[in-house]
Amino acid sequence: MSQPALRLAERARAIEPFHVMEIAKAAQALQAGLPPDADPMLYLNIGEPDFTAAPLVAEAAQRCIRDGQTQYTAANGLPALRERISQWYADRFGLQIDPGRIVVTAGASAALQLVCLALIQAGDEILMPDPSYPCNRHFVSVAGGTPRLVPSSAEQRFQLSAQQVAAHWSDATRGVMLASPSNPTGTSIAPQELRAIHEVVKARGGVTIVDEIYLGLSYDHAYSHSALEIDDNIISINSFSKYFCMTGWRLGWLVLPPALARQVELLAQHLFICASTVSQHAALACFEPDSIALYEQRRAEFRARRDWFVPQLQALGLDVPVLPDGAFYAWADCSAWFKRLGVDNSWDATFALMQRAHIVATPGRDFGSADTSRFLRFSTASALPLLQQAIARLQQLS
Ligand SMILES: Cc1ncc(COP(=O)(O)O)c(C=O)c1O
Repeated sequence: MSQPALRLAERARAIEPFHVMEIAKAAQALQAGLPPDADPMLYLNIGEPDFTAAPLVAEAAQRCIRDGQTQYTAANGLPALRERISQWYADRFGLQIDPGRIVVTAGASAALQLVCLALIQAGDEILMPDPSYPCNRHFVSVAGGTPRLVPSSAEQRFQLSAQQVAAHWSDATRGVMLASPSNPTGTSIAPQELRAIHEVVKARGGVTIVDEIYLGLSYDHAYSHSALEIDDNIISINSFSKYFCMTGWRLGWLVLPPALARQVELLAQHLFICASTVSQHAALACFEPDSIALYEQRRAEFRARRDWFVPQLQALGLDVPVLPDGAFYAWADCSAWFKRLGVDNSWDATFALMQRAHIVATPGRDFGSADTSRFLRFSTASALPLLQQAIARLQQLS
């Protein structure tokens, strides 16, 4: 007897596919069907470092498991880890952050969810740039709010301006959600613009949330500033995933205004109990001088990849309108290639590149709708020889 279909909650029905994951599945299926002598697929869609955790971190994790240090921790994280993170802000940015304001989470993803659940209620709107990280829309809507995407142009480094925030603010607006450097563009918001945005937000009683997950991978001093320099009331999200190369360890953190820390801790107690204990103990070793030296070498390597890859794309007519100053992405306008690929948008261009050159990129559609059908996101998180192969294949197509 057939079962009646389960009724899905509206919030689940509203979830859109995370195209980058769907594209990855399609690419793997195509790869599985390729003859053995075909060029292997080059995955430039992947938003995670090709490096793994530093050796000291891996050793610390093994020690932790061996010694049975695997019980739950406090919901806001190991006190020692919160202190090391606080010290990191002092060493890197000259900032004094009370460890009491830091909550350790299961990646930036859990941090973003906690903030949204703590601050957004039904009917609230959150402004964010178009393009921006796809999951942000869903963190907001799952919390009962409405994401309002505001088109952001190359002239604005694909970030919001204070003037736009003021113009789009309505009675329902509760705040802004930014990422700096951003995914998909790798471009940061200028500190003076962020300051101006925060003034607009503060004057309206709203909240400024800045995702700084790529801040460790910044290549330009002008933008290597934490939003926390501006005001203790800005919420900063961060993670061990990118700079510390620990994506699968599921560990991140957030820095909260002092008055919010306790409420978010209570939410974390009920929703997650705590972030992974093993990952937390291991992450203490991220801050050892040897580990930091290694992570800095890798930052230089990511920068070298950008420095090689972006001019190559430009030379091929795949225009990257703003040089990424951080992260490992190139946001490229592929409209000059539409005719050559027999397509009229970047979604179809993704499949054409996958089939004809065995190169996997991410279509702009994942990140918004304003002007995204011209853009592809290429990830430069892969080693230089792979990036070189990709460019050689593109040259053959051109
Ligand atoms: C801008 C941004 N924020 C958050 C995340 C989620 O990161 P995490 O692995 O820390 O949950 C990502 C992952 O790609 C990201 O690009």
